[in-house]
Amino acid sequence: MRIGSRTPLPEFERRTVGSWKSGGLLECTDVTAENEDVNSYSFKAYDGTGFDFKPGQHISIRLPLKSGEEYRTFTVCSSPTRGDEITLTVKTNRPDGATAWMRDNIKIGSIFSAVGPTGLFNLIDHPCKKLLLISAGSGITPMMSMLRWLADRQDDLDVTFIHYVKISDEYLFSDELSKIAGEYDPLAFHQISTHRADAEIHGLPTMTQLASLIDVSGHQVFCCGPSGFMDAIKDILLKGGLNPDHYHQESFGSDATKPEVVDENAETLTVKFKDKTFDAKRGETLLSALKKNKVVVPTGCKSGMCGTCQMKLISGKVDMNHQGGLSEQQIDEGYILACCSTLSENISIL
Ligand SMILES: Cc1cc2nc3c(=O)[nH]c(=O)nc-3n(C[C@H](O)[C@H](O)[C@H](O)COP(=O)(O)OP(=O)(O)OC[C@H]3O[C@@H](n4cnc5c(N)ncnc54)[C@H](O)[C@@H]3O)c2cc1C
Ligand code: FES
Repeated sequence: MRIGSRTPLPEFERRTVGSWKSGGLLECTDVTAENEDVNSYSFKAYDGTGFDFKPGQHISIRLPLKSGEEYRTFTVCSSPTRGDEITLTVKTNRPDGATAWMRDNIKIGSIFSAVGPTGLFNLIDHPCKKLLLISAGSGITPMMSMLRWLADRQDDLDVTFIHYVKISDEYLFSDELSKIAGEYDPLAFHQISTHRADAEIHGLPTMTQLASLIDVSGHQVFCCGPSGFMDAIKDILLKGGLNPDHYHQESFGSDATKPEVVDENAETLTVKFKDKTFDAKRGETLLSALKKNKVVVPTGCKSGMCGTCQMKLISGKVDMNHQGGLSEQQIDEGYILACCSTLSENISIL
């Protein structure tokens, strides 16, 4: 069985009828503390349907924060083979942040609205026979969805997973990963301690280190971790002969930290969204124009990578500068990303 062969999935624990495809209400069914900073939250669909998603995709959940309602984006860490529920594994970021709010407030029975699943960082859209997964820290979450899916299906692929941790031997999912590695023969699993010199393989990623583990040619590569880590991995792998089209990465952080400066002297344009029409400035991002008019748009990376803020352009034009957050097919179908599309005409969107 190969990735992308579209062999019908075994039913596993699926007992639901129909699928929650692009959004709805989620009800929390379980909260598990993975360690002192990380919780896993499981959800079922409030309407009783199951979830249809691709391993590696993410959803955005709407949180009633003190500052107002905001979306946050999380990888679905569970496997589509067990689509009755989804699990999000969330690291608490800073004491007053949204993830701390989640830790303190999400209980069994809590209900949230959410959108997705979405994202091109997934195994279905990039079929292959040789697969390399590389992650660091909490970048392990999409890899877990992919590995759980592959292991459940016993897919006959050449799979290598390299996970970097600082020093701890008890990294996230360490027990489950040992179990998967024991039960799923095609998987070669390497855990690398970046800061523990007594480990057999250790240190930050280098060409020599990675070459000692894998010949990367012919692989599809999925990488997730801090941005400096992903830059280093990409550089090493491309220099090592990887086809750039076979490298995929997921960024958890926003590169767009500076507030947008809108030229108030620019030409005024109109944006029509559902039954609302409002003014915006030529050159302003669609996200900024919507936010000013109290339209809450789900966002994740805010830099055109994750695809969370996609909307459909019904008429008019925008200048979109995305970083892989939409496929060519989605663009042909009229989808745009609000975070990286600036207005150049009057537009109507859905
Ligand atoms: C595709 C994707 C997948 C992710 N998967 C995971 C995962 O599996 N596990 C995990 O722990 N984290 C994941 N993240 C990161 C997660 O979404 C949070 O952004 C991160 O945990 C920051 O924590 P916080 O929200 O508590 O921080 P906060 O302090 O609340 O936010 C950090 C800063 O960014 C701003 N900000 C960030 N996101 C938004 C937003 N959507 N809307 C408005 N403002 C925002 C806040 O205003 C603040 O200034 C993922 C992110 C992306 C884009
Ligand atoms: S928020 Fe990630 S693409 Fe717009």
